[in-house]
Amino acid sequence: SKLQMFVDELPDMPRIRAYELVHGVPKPRSLQIGMFKKKWKFHRDLPPTPVFAYGESKFTATVPGPTMEALQGVDTYVTWQNHLPPKHILPWDPTIPTARPHTNKGVPTVVHLHGAIHEPESDGNSNSWFTARFNETGPTWTKKTYHYPNQQHPGNLWYHDHAMGLTRVNLLAGLIGAYIIRDHTMEGPLGLPQGKEFDRPLIVFDRSFRSDGSIYMNSTGNNPTIHPQWQPEYFGDAIIVNGKAWPRLTVRRRKYRFRIINASNARFFSFFFTNGLGFIHVASDSAYLDRPVRANRILLGPSEITDIIVDFSLSKSNVAILANDAKYPYPTGDPVNEANSKVMKFTILPAREFDTSRVPRTLIKYPTVDLSSVSHTRYIAMYEYTTDADEPTHLYINGKPYEAPATETPKVGSTEVWYVINLTDDNHPLHIHLGLFKVLDQTKLADLEKFKDCMMKLNDAIKCHVDKQRGNRTEVPAHEKGWKNVFKMSPGTVTKIVVRFSYIHTNASYGFDPTKEPGYVYHCHILDHEDNAMMRPLKIIK
Ligand code: C2O
Ligand code: CU
Repeated sequence: SKLQMFVDELPDMPRIRAYELVHGVPKPRSLQIGMFKKKWKFHRDLPPTPVFAYGESKFTATVPGPTMEALQGVDTYVTWQNHLPPKHILPWDPTIPTARPHTNKGVPTVVHLHGAIHEPESDGNSNSWFTARFNETGPTWTKKTYHYPNQQHPGNLWYHDHAMGLTRVNLLAGLIGAYIIRDHTMEGPLGLPQGKEFDRPLIVFDRSFRSDGSIYMNSTGNNPTIHPQWQPEYFGDAIIVNGKAWPRLTVRRRKYRFRIINASNARFFSFFFTNGLGFIHVASDSAYLDRPVRANRILLGPSEITDIIVDFSLSKSNVAILANDAKYPYPTGDPVNEANSKVMKFTILPAREFDTSRVPRTLIKYPTVDLSSVSHTRYIAMYEYTTDADEPTHLYINGKPYEAPATETPKVGSTEVWYVINLTDDNHPLHIHLGLFKVLDQTKLADLEKFKDCMMKLNDAIKCHVDKQRGNRTEVPAHEKGWKNVFKMSPGTVTKIVVRFSYIHTNASYGFDPTKEPGYVYHCHILDHEDNAMMRPLKIIK
């Protein structure tokens, strides 16, 4: 039976103030946020779905979790608490590198605040997992309460699970939520749409359901003799926004701000409005753009965030469907079908509105990167290994498993250039913890097959003459030229990025020691790739 689209109202997730107000003065706040197993209604006609949800209590927990609103410069402390039952609601694959409680009981979890700049002990390292009541903890676990200093520029972050080998299933189960850092002095004068009604996070992901309402995930792998369960990509047919399948929202004829987070495991979205209405980009994952960028399409890879203004007063019709036509896997997989080509529906009230919000000509300018200060150049190659029958078995970065000692060891405060070389047929959204980067250019590998053969043998980009591989250049879209923490690495290309291991808005050093254990990581944000094991340690040194 097919689910009818656009029957549920778009929810706004509960918002949690991540600071105290003492006589109107913002002060640090300590929060306790739990993970609970409960049931969640994804659609009017679908039975309630067992999920894992974040919330201050089981009763208030939601999928996605509450939106946390932090203030720039005001610390937030969170004790993330695992209240999950002994057994997972989704399949487990013990053959990939994965968290293993000795008692084999309990669901390992650990929370990462994606896009945040904070100490390594609070980064949610994959091996710092913990089970219910901290009964068991992973090898790099150090503490219960995480510290988020919120010292960085204002922007869009999200929190999600990061447990070794379980990230794909823990997020599928519902462990995700939005986190916003605001700075009223900096952002107020911009005059962008604001307040709960006109400034909304949209967390988008795909899921499949069984008729009893439970989440469907294939429990047999594509290579069951090697990995009994692991699949290279999870795709679902229902498109969920803020916890409802294909929701609807009635809007006024005025400007709205949407912070769109792609929280899918593997699905890319190429968003557009069916009535031709456009988008105005103001920020991306992490940071504002210098100036607004108008576009009719948004290509968003897993974990990417775009922050846009939509001006519904320009709509010629009273209905605008937000649609998607990105192939899956992206870019060479299947074309979208009726179900996954629709995202949500906006009904625009006919009455004209008086709208005091605006889109300014310029937004926020950060200091420019000085390429002469680059202290290190690295080559980061992405590999996919397959069986003779061409079925993927695992993916690696630089041909190395996660457990191999760190090879990426930037100095505190340094600026580096990374050439990310994608030797596969898929687009991989590469995410770096701690460091923010700018994309400088993207060029096709001139002779992919020859270069790939060499890399498979020597695993050394310089010896394989990557410098002679400068093929056609693909233009980096204007709205992706700002500071990012994740970027889409196109197949068969070399992407040159400049990464900063310091704050981008000030030259101040971090107020914490980034060289401590367990360090950070960088990885592909296709969660099924990250779990097997397209992830490497990132060790900051003095
Ligand atoms: Cu969004 Cu390492 O994660
Ligand atoms: Cu990948």
